[in-house]
Amino acid sequence: MTSDHEKWRFYGRRAGRKLNAARQSVLDELFPELEIKPEQLTEDQSLAPSSLFSSSLEKTVLEIGFGNGEHLVEMMRRTSDTAFIGAEPFFNGMSAFLKQVQDENIPTDNVRVLMDDAMILVRSLEANCLDEIYILNPDPWHKTRHHKRRIVNPDNLNEFSRLLKPGGKLIMSTDVPDLAEWMVTHAINHPDFKWEAECADDWRRPPKDWIPTRYETKRAKGADKMVYLFFRKIS
Ligand SMILES: C[S@@+](CC[C@H](N)C(=O)[O-])C[C@H]1O[C@@H](n2cnc3c(N)ncnc32)[C@H](O)[C@@H]1O
Repeated sequence: MTSDHEKWRFYGRRAGRKLNAARQSVLDELFPELEIKPEQLTEDQSLAPSSLFSSSLEKTVLEIGFGNGEHLVEMMRRTSDTAFIGAEPFFNGMSAFLKQVQDENIPTDNVRVLMDDAMILVRSLEANCLDEIYILNPDPWHKTRHHKRRIVNPDNLNEFSRLLKPGGKLIMSTDVPDLAEWMVTHAINHPDFKWEAECADDWRRPPKDWIPTRYETKRAKGADKMVYLFFRKIS
């Protein structure tokens, strides 16, 4: 996987504050059990999510850039018959996610994680294998010259479309107006995606069962700018 891996440059932080002993130990002990190993990644887009789990599960959901994992953990609390795959390159985020899982004894048979650029995983997975992809509060890359680093872009939308089953959902959120406009415009212009919103409240307000992330809660002051974008892959 290394040759392909090197082609995709990751922009962002991998490490922040030094981890405390508990957070380091969960990374040392629990992470290897849940990790998607480099040798499981493929260069020919043939990785079947089912090969990552020991039992067959009803749905498969990918969360890209899960931060500290609050959203992923809550999905795991709510359902055990879905396969969850998460990608987060930030050590501190990964260890925060694992610590919550460990502290609450949440079953882990249905979750696998990659501590790296999600696009490495996306480019490994087979077509039509996912029911939902979540990209919540992605890094905004405010400067115009950095816009090409945004994870939602035409090339990556092609990949997200390839992975989603017909009717599968691409779910995005942000409180950055310029990024919201960017994500809506690119997804609307993509021939495979249909925006589900029928009126402004459909994107201004979260659906009833929405799980707020810490990032969303922290930005309570900007809550009026939050947008919730649901796109469906047209079959
Ligand atoms: C602004 S934070 C939002 C975190 C979380 N989704 C939330 O809403 O609280 C963006 C996250 O995306 C992660 N990220 C950035 N680029 C990524 C990539 N290429 N693959 C996976 N995660 C990525 C960052 O490490 C960071 O944790």
